[in-house]
Amino acid sequence: MSDTPRKILVTSALPYANGPIHLGHLLEYIQTDIWVRFQKLRGQQCTYVCADDAHGTAIMLKAEENGVTPEQQIAQVKADHGRGFADLQVNFDHYYRTHSPENRALAEMVFQRNKDAGYILEKTITQLYDPQKGMFLADRFVKGTCPKCKSEDQYGDNCEVCGATYTPAELIDPYSSVSGATPVEKETTQLFFDLPKFEPLLREWTRSGALQEQVANKLQEWIEDLQPWDISREAPYFGFEIPGYPGKYFYVWLDAPIGYMASFQNYCDREGLSFDDYWGKDSTAELYHFIGKDIINFHGLFWPAMLDGAGLRKPTAIYSHG
Ligand code: 2FM
Ligand code: ZN
Repeated sequence: MSDTPRKILVTSALPYANGPIHLGHLLEYIQTDIWVRFQKLRGQQCTYVCADDAHGTAIMLKAEENGVTPEQQIAQVKADHGRGFADLQVNFDHYYRTHSPENRALAEMVFQRNKDAGYILEKTITQLYDPQKGMFLADRFVKGTCPKCKSEDQYGDNCEVCGATYTPAELIDPYSSVSGATPVEKETTQLFFDLPKFEPLLREWTRSGALQEQVANKLQEWIEDLQPWDISREAPYFGFEIPGYPGKYFYVWLDAPIGYMASFQNYCDREGLSFDDYWGKDSTAELYHFIGKDIINFHGLFWPAMLDGAGLRKPTAIYSHG
């Protein structure tokens, strides 16, 4: 080919470090791998990176269940994932982990830039607390009866029977899925990313051709009602402690997509590529994320907003599958 090769960076969603790779993962990695092989055959400068998604409560609890430290847990799973990918000839150019010095530095940078730009809010909220385990029950660690249709054993954020969404505090007869104890309400100050400030940007970007039309339509429902996004979690939490906020950690979904950058950074340092050529605001490199449709809100709303707030480029496109 006589044309200058295009610079293309490609990612697949980062698998959690709490279990083996399964068919659902493989659907995505094989699809991405084929796309990357095609670009390479065409002579493009195409780089495919991925990593283990190593943080969060689920991994912390899994390590506890296995009687190992979180660090041991993620090391074992990474070795296991590596064998699986090699057997299936999924050819990442680089495979890393989110629990890494590069990811810590990049997460702190993205946070600090957003904070300096006025996009980080502090709010005191009431959260459910497991008195037996001594921990706040964020995310899906509270279960109970749906306040709307009264189905039992529903998660704290939405009902899988009637589709209602609510807060964990609205559940009837809530219980901690960690210990079974009845949670109590406790006040806590958390950090929020001011997503509503990005509404104009998100309206424009989601319709810019970066997303499939159906995905843009789905995201539009969220855009009509954007809320500040809770990006901090209380100790005990396996992740990165937030600079200036002792005992508070970045929520796993804050540093997970930054893990794409961290994996690429580690690869650049090894291969002598320029990280800024790909991630700088005026980058002409192309950036593609392959993901499953259950995580389009993270990639199609929070991620472009956070990147923009930090003065970085946004993805060229996101390819989402069922
Ligand atoms: O849903 C998941 O399995 C997440 N571990 C995907 C993370 S993708 C990226 F944002 F890190
Ligand atoms: Zn219900």
